[in-house]
Amino acid sequence: MPNEETLSRRGLLVKLGLLLNGLVAAALAVPVLRYVLSPVTRGRGNAFLQWVSLGRVSEFPEGETRLATFRNPNVMPADGETVATACWVRRIEGEKFQVFAINCAHLGCPVRWFQQSGLFMCPCHGGVYYSDGSRASGPPERGLFEYAYKVKDGLITIEAGEIPTPGTPTAALDQERPPCA
Ligand code: FES
Repeated sequence: MPNEETLSRRGLLVKLGLLLNGLVAAALAVPVLRYVLSPVTRGRGNAFLQWVSLGRVSEFPEGETRLATFRNPNVMPADGETVATACWVRRIEGEKFQVFAINCAHLGCPVRWFQQSGLFMCPCHGGVYYSDGSRASGPPERGLFEYAYKVKDGLITIEAGEIPTPGTPTAALDQERPPCA
């Protein structure tokens, strides 16, 4: 028959086990909750989204599409040169721009701009986009993703930090944007 000391030790171990289980459950619940709530919390005070400069407006001739790079604000110390992120900048006229993510809307390969044909083409599976970023043909189900941009004091800046996807605020803006002439 167990004595009182054995019982109190067993009770203590049970309580300790319950406490440890609770701590582990809480640690596992945090990332799960963040994932579940991300559609709601995304874009609200996102510390990673920042306005970064692409350079002077005059560097982008009207009617042309040029490759630009910016420093991704969402960096880790070990990222090295990978923080340099490319995008396509289309200057329509004056201060009217479109800034496209370089990543194909299908599986993310970098698309290339061909001035002669006026098309963006993806080397991976043959996705093709028109000059305004809208889908022309191939596997992508939509046009290129666009960054939100601002022009101030002769500089063009974009809201960078995340590659735009259908869930990001910038992509949502992009879908509300009226079609380009
Ligand atoms: S990644 Fe571009 S078409 Fe598949």
